[in-house]
Amino acid sequence: MKDCSPLFDSTWKRSVYCGKISGEHEAKKVVLNGWVRKRRDLGGIIFIELWDHTSFSQVVFSPEENPEVHERAKDLRGEYVIAVKGLVRKRPEGTVNPLLKTGNWEIIAEDFLMLAPSRQQPFEISPATDMVDENLRLRYRFLDLRRDRMQKNLRTRYQLAMFTRKYLHDRGFVDIETPILTKSTPEGARDYLVPSRVNPGNFYALPQSPQIFKQILMISGFDRYYQIVKCFRDEDLRSDRQPEFTQIDMEMSFITEEDIFILLEEYMKGLFKEIHGLDLKTPFPKLSYKEAMDRFGSDKPDLRVPFEIVDLAEVFDKVDFPPFQQILENGGYVRGIPLPGGASLSRKGLSLVEERAKSMGAQGLAFFQFKEGTLKGPLSKYLSEENRDNLVSGSAIGEGDALFVMADPSWNKTCEVLGQLRLELARENNLIDPGASKWEFLWVVHFPLFEWSEEDDRWYSVHHPFTAPLPEDMELLDEDPGKARSRAYDLVLNGNEVGGGSIRIHDPQVQQKVFNCLRITPEEAQYRFGFLLDALGSGTPPHGGIALGVDRLAMLLCGATSIRDVIAFPKTQKAQCLMSGAPSKVGEEQLQELRICTFEEEDPSLPE
Ligand code: AMO
Repeated sequence: MKDCSPLFDSTWKRSVYCGKISGEHEAKKVVLNGWVRKRRDLGGIIFIELWDHTSFSQVVFSPEENPEVHERAKDLRGEYVIAVKGLVRKRPEGTVNPLLKTGNWEIIAEDFLMLAPSRQQPFEISPATDMVDENLRLRYRFLDLRRDRMQKNLRTRYQLAMFTRKYLHDRGFVDIETPILTKSTPEGARDYLVPSRVNPGNFYALPQSPQIFKQILMISGFDRYYQIVKCFRDEDLRSDRQPEFTQIDMEMSFITEEDIFILLEEYMKGLFKEIHGLDLKTPFPKLSYKEAMDRFGSDKPDLRVPFEIVDLAEVFDKVDFPPFQQILENGGYVRGIPLPGGASLSRKGLSLVEERAKSMGAQGLAFFQFKEGTLKGPLSKYLSEENRDNLVSGSAIGEGDALFVMADPSWNKTCEVLGQLRLELARENNLIDPGASKWEFLWVVHFPLFEWSEEDDRWYSVHHPFTAPLPEDMELLDEDPGKARSRAYDLVLNGNEVGGGSIRIHDPQVQQKVFNCLRITPEEAQYRFGFLLDALGSGTPPHGGIALGVDRLAMLLCGATSIRDVIAFPKTQKAQCLMSGAPSKVGEEQLQELRICTFEEEDPSLPE
């Protein structure tokens, strides 16, 4: 390397971005700053693609026009940072690149300054890097983020944040920061704990959400609050979950569910117009939790899938097939999913579907295929002519389709298995419309207030313990808590839960009742949420709110398949940051200060 000292004075500052070279610069001198991407040496002439976040420009180093500069350019390698001065000219005929915005022009280098070299990259910085092992991309995230797709994703995410701030500001919302070092907020996950040095033996919990604080802000009279805020949950990670993630968190006073629906529908309309130029249809459909489970086997149904679960109890009630009849007589369920085009599945293909259903917990899965005007399948011999007609009309299948039928004593199991199969079969058979109508929003409402845990032999909140019960179900809190429905709502987009919220309990007595159902004693409630209970008894307006998952929303807007692709520095499935090496061990001294004792666990899977 001849000269690495960066003498970056104002004469070397860019006059134009690499991706902005156009006709207006022709025959003019420009200065470009950027990264050397591709370098080609063609018969003595060196071409480089110089990149910055706006795109590329072709820079030419010619031995005839500028031999000294050409000589130095021989040392340039991928990802070196340089400043180039040169003359813009039209590319010679036959060398125009119509795929590139700047593809009509090139810059004839007159001089360049080496600003920084780069070590050899572990992968090429190109669209093909999507195929590279994700852990390698995460380890070298600074390089991965130099790719156009990642740049675009993070900029779209920023656009989302900017749109959100303006939208909520214009509607009277105030951005108020809530603490990060705080007390546990129950959102159904484990807490991340932070030891307090000055209060030995005491721990802060990082917020699973600002839930309690935003409710207190309503009690304090702020009327409309929002925050784009980090939340922390120690839970099993998936492609749509991170241990730290971002919410657009909001709360409003003196409102009902309808106010939230309208606010969010207008928000989504504006956001999709701004980012995709699309006109969303509002209002979004609303489904009760029960209907969503019955029809789609999911509380976040993907409405792009063109078929739903069908209830076949009435049909099979009349079919003389004892296993199904017994299940029905005992209050069980016989339901099915039609698969358009499924008549072409081979016997092996059909049994693979059955195996899959069994692995999800089904006892079995019957099938029928509608071929040559008739229903075929192992159970068809039990069907009379009338039964067949009923089954065909009851499941809305036609020539060329298949029907999978499951019978089970449990409503939950039947819904879950068929719901999962519906999604998988639709994906595998390319039945999800990727076209214009691909943004399918809906609200899922009236969730159960509680869910039973066999393992712990107690109720848990489905949403969180501050969610109000439906007024008409209030008495069920004493009589049959499992049947009580809540004033919670989820916003679902293409099968993803992008937001969740509720109207809150604003009466301390109702709050106490819910705590009772959750077996939280008054003493425990006082210890864990005493500050909220004090506030609730100090003049609480009716209030409610919602939180949107920024990462999931950004992922969908970007067409990404994992939220990691819209987070600058995400964690792996094992909650590790491969770039920084977090989490990591700390020194003995630091631990002593915190009065923390650790012991070695000889588990090789633990992070170093
Ligand atoms: P909830 O727990 O439903 O509600 O969270 C709101 C939204 O946050 C997103 N989300 C996540 N995104 C990425 N990784 C995670 N681990 C993760 N967990 C949740 C989802 C979800 O819909 N306090 C309530 C809101 C309220 O009642 O107003 C709450 O946090 O998109």
